Amino acid sequence: MSDKNIYWQSSENMSAVADGSIQTTVTSPPYFDLKDYGHDEEIGSSDESYEAFLERLRGVWEEVYDKLSDDGTLWVVSDSTMSDEGAIRLLPQDIVDDAIDVGFSHLETIVWYKPTSLARMNPKLLANKKEYIMLLSKGDAPKIDPEALVEAGEEDPAVNGRSQLGDLWRFPVKRGSLGGNVLHKAPFPLPLVKRMIRISSDPGDAVLDPFLGSGTTAEAALELNRGICGYEINEEFKSIVSQRIQGLEGAHQQKLDGT
Ligand SMILES: C[S@@+](CC[C@H](N)C(=O)[O-])C[C@H]1O[C@@H](n2cnc3c(N)ncnc32)[C@H](O)[C@@H]1O
Repeated sequence: MSDKNIYWQSSENMSAVADGSIQTTVTSPPYFDLKDYGHDEEIGSSDESYEAFLERLRGVWEEVYDKLSDDGTLWVVSDSTMSDEGAIRLLPQDIVDDAIDVGFSHLETIVWYKPTSLARMNPKLLANKKEYIMLLSKGDAPKIDPEALVEAGEEDPAVNGRSQLGDLWRFPVKRGSLGGNVLHKAPFPLPLVKRMIRISSDPGDAVLDPFLGSGTTAEAALELNRGICGYEINEEFKSIVSQRIQGLEGAHQQKLDGT
């Protein structure tokens, strides 16, 4: 497939993408000072303070807002983190507050339950087994597929004969690898991303990930016959992303060029 809509640069400037051309955005932003993916300008590891880090993320939410269609949506996957002093910071709430300030409406907060997770983001007392998924919309009438909401998971047993997708989503994680290469330190599970894309877009729509990492969102979007647009600052993921999307060129891949 042509990777003309994947940009190896900061998503703080997405002028290459036409305003209003994206139906849904699925992303997991970097954390503040937690994981160093190795690039000087990356958000999180090169910021002076937590406030400066949030401000840069907010710049990305502003760009995403412009790129979304009026019925577009934004899914942000994140968890609370720890300050140097050991205080818990509710990063998901800080992100939602900033996104609302930018103009988004907050539709849902989902808990992603990661039964196999061993990572300890909050090294307090308990193993860290969850992340939050915040669903935000640009306008009052977001495109949501009611059929996809009926696709209940194992964690949603029918009650009185009626099953409905709940707000606790169980998707195991594993450190991803492809052909001996470690995909990413924190990759999304593919089925999780597919669920978000199915709920908030139709085949032929365009999906954006401003923090593409190893390209899970690209693989999911193309497999579901959506177009993909991605930004990632670390070129070390280039070959992994190409490998993952190779052979998916039959999928809709419209030109989203904003120039
Ligand atoms: C949590 S990871 C995303 C992982 C991804 N969901 C996956 O499945 O592989 C966040 C990514 O944001 C990237 N990043 C950090 N600052 C960036 C920036 N300014 N613009 C674009 N990407 C950036 C990091 O290099 C990292 O790969």
